[in-house]
Amino acid sequence: MMLHVPEVLTKAQVSELRALIDAAPWVDGNVTSGAQSALAKRNEQLPEDGEAARRGAEAVQDALARSRLFVSAALPQKVYPPLFNRYAGGQTFGLHVDNAIRQSRHGDIRIRTDLSATLFLSEPDDYDGGELTVEDTYGAHQVKLPAGDLILYPSTSLHSVEPVTRGTRVASFMWIQSMVRDDARRALLFDMDVSIQRLAMQLGQGEASVVALTGTYHNLLRMWAEV
Ligand code: NI
Repeated sequence: MMLHVPEVLTKAQVSELRALIDAAPWVDGNVTSGAQSALAKRNEQLPEDGEAARRGAEAVQDALARSRLFVSAALPQKVYPPLFNRYAGGQTFGLHVDNAIRQSRHGDIRIRTDLSATLFLSEPDDYDGGELTVEDTYGAHQVKLPAGDLILYPSTSLHSVEPVTRGTRVASFMWIQSMVRDDARRALLFDMDVSIQRLAMQLGQGEASVVALTGTYHNLLRMWAEV
């Protein structure tokens, strides 16, 4: 399941974050790549250990935790500290898959990558190209979102970033280990949660059928969640 999560960050929060990271020193993006993706990757990245990256990652993680839509769709157990990259002057990231396991350099963080996410930090008008292309069973989807919006997609998907031919594309990217590993089960729980919220709006949170459906949702989550 691919999901567009709008306004994870407000425009003011995007500006604040950009001021922080734009002023920091960037390095070649291949510092985080596996051997296969290193071949395809041409971009720049903010060093993980730097002060700007740490503070930026915290800001993004706080925003993710506040996003009801993100939490409902991802059912996050662990989020790898968000990283930052940028593309300019024809830079690109060719077709690849993300590594199954992501481990920090010091080994203190290790997650199974169930979901990948890109949080756009440049406005679409500020650059040409740079679409995130994600392939799933329904074909290839090209994604280019307003600054502050996020796209969530299964880490098993083949994906790429089109060459940026004008301007600069800045983004944060991250991997999520979900409490519910199976994509189909997670999608079902998300659909159910969305329907329950809609029914609760119409009928009231305490209405008997809403309470019963909420119970069913939690029973499914109890059966499927690995915590
Ligand atoms: Ni990737």
